[in-house]
Amino acid sequence: MTDFSVKIKGFIFNLDGVIVDTAKYHYKAWLKLADEMGVEFPPEQHEQLRSLSRMESLEKILEWGGLYMTEAEKLHWADVKNNWYQGLIANMTPDEVFPGVLSFLDEVRQYGGKTALSSASRNARTVLESTQIDTCFDVVLDGAAARKPKPHPDCFLMAASALGLAPAECIVFDDAVLGVQAARDGGFHIVGVGKPDDLPDAELVIPGFDGLSLSEVMEMMRLIPLSMVAS
Ligand code: G1P
Repeated sequence: MTDFSVKIKGFIFNLDGVIVDTAKYHYKAWLKLADEMGVEFPPEQHEQLRSLSRMESLEKILEWGGLYMTEAEKLHWADVKNNWYQGLIANMTPDEVFPGVLSFLDEVRQYGGKTALSSASRNARTVLESTQIDTCFDVVLDGAAARKPKPHPDCFLMAASALGLAPAECIVFDDAVLGVQAARDGGFHIVGVGKPDDLPDAELVIPGFDGLSLSEVMEMMRLIPLSMVAS
């Protein structure tokens, strides 16, 4: 249960679909793979893959298609998808950071908050470097780091621990149902990024960071601004 009397000091962000628009590249690569296998994969179904690991995502597509693969075949096709995905992100630029993200992160820093990037993607660091935001976070945890996948809160618990903070001192920003569930189960405050109807369990849902200030988020969540915290 989240404790609303604790001051907020940590801000933990998912990557794909929250900080940068890489979800579209993941979808393109998964769609190419699904097409190769004759599996229907309409855009709205990609929501069910958000926050899953690479292997979990492949297994979900196989399940939808009623297909069986050996472990060796799954490793091969997961690699094939990853090569397609890496080709799609090879030329990413800082322009692909969502609007408002950099100013929001800057506001967090000015405010004395700590930041972490926590993603299930093993390509997270590549994306951060190519969009030149790898130095914007105090801690970066990619898909190789988490011990248990979402909806287990492991990825966020590890991020809070690396920041030296308790979950109740942190706000998680995630765009997926599994991410919101993981944050809630871990005792974090949770801001959903997307549409309110898609993320009903988030404390607050924002469409993105464009034109949004940190103090507005804190007020909307009725949280105590760090500036009021005795150091
Ligand atoms: C993996 C999945 C991708 C998912 C991402 C974040 O990324 O393949 O579909 O969106 O985790 O959960 P990858 O490790 O392949 O970069």
